Amino acid sequence: MGDAVTDTLGRPLGSLRLSVTDRCNLRCSYCMPEEDYAWLPRESLLTFEELTRLAQVFASLGAHKVRLTGGEPLLRRDLPELVRMLLRDPAIQDLALTTNGLLLSRQIDALADAGLMRVTVSLDTLSPERFLSLARSPRHADVLDGIEAAERRGLGLKINSVVMRGVNDDEMIPLLRFARQHGAELRFIEYMDVGGATGWSADDVVSRAEMLQRIGDVCGKVEEIAEPGSRAPAERFRLPDGQAFGIIASTTAPFCRTCDRSRITADGTWFLCLYAADGLDLRAPLRDGAGDEELRALIVRHWAGREDRGAELRAESPHRAALYQLKSLRADPHREMHTRGG
Ligand code: 5AD
Ligand code: SF4
Repeated sequence: MGDAVTDTLGRPLGSLRLSVTDRCNLRCSYCMPEEDYAWLPRESLLTFEELTRLAQVFASLGAHKVRLTGGEPLLRRDLPELVRMLLRDPAIQDLALTTNGLLLSRQIDALADAGLMRVTVSLDTLSPERFLSLARSPRHADVLDGIEAAERRGLGLKINSVVMRGVNDDEMIPLLRFARQHGAELRFIEYMDVGGATGWSADDVVSRAEMLQRIGDVCGKVEEIAEPGSRAPAERFRLPDGQAFGIIASTTAPFCRTCDRSRITADGTWFLCLYAADGLDLRAPLRDGAGDEELRALIVRHWAGREDRGAELRAESPHRAALYQLKSLRADPHREMHTRGG
């Protein structure tokens, strides 16, 4: 079978986000604001063999880009071994990791030796005090160490910053400078009303338009970098000094029309959209001994019916507030961002 699998809007199966754990060692206010959480049962977590098998089947259908996510993926033991297993399949052409950076400096060598190509580290503030209140952890220095380690090993490096009004929106320029110093491309992310973000309010969102305005006021004319045919969610821009950065405007300017990504949770539930209420259980067929052709047929059928454009529908809704109430998140942890992967 070739790469010609498309959904109802003509979108191909492109990139796959593979969550390897729903646990996290931070508690970012936009993702895990609560005191306690319902976790996926341990026995439901896919083994490395199962994760690899699924990724291979997806790659054979056109998902040549894989990103490992969590929760915090570096909490999963022996992750470099999974990297090695995935890269044995030449159809997996690009393998990246999204991490909060806490454990990165310790693991970067093993990950790079295993062949990991790119890393995205989340960093919303340069201030340890702010980090303490924003992510409820005193380990800000470990994140910076992680970024430095990734820079030293020469991995393709991005930094993700969620911009929240009154929280860190005064740090856009310092974050840009920090990224430049470390050879990283910064991507500002609009605060999204995804599952888990129970405290979301439209007032806290700093829109792409406002970000560009405020960055332009300080740095001079911001130019858009034209990338024809790009399916990447980040729009890229250039400052007068040549520094490139991105903005992911999922809240005010969603990119659903070109979205070719889907995500698999650590227990093998496949979601076609970040905002989708339900996913398709791939663990059951996997554990019931389904062959590759059977899995492929299941995936193709499901993708062919994909209509999702969750972020656009959210943007159209008149009285926008948090997507889920706490009760509904408790009832199904799959609705959490830290389960389906940031
Ligand atoms: N809004 C925007 N981004 C979010 N992330 C998690 N929750 C949210 C949210 N409510 C993303 C951040 C973080 C990544 C792991 O997940 O980009 O860097
Ligand atoms: Fe923060 Fe990522 Fe952990 Fe969510 S999963 S709490 S965004 S570090």
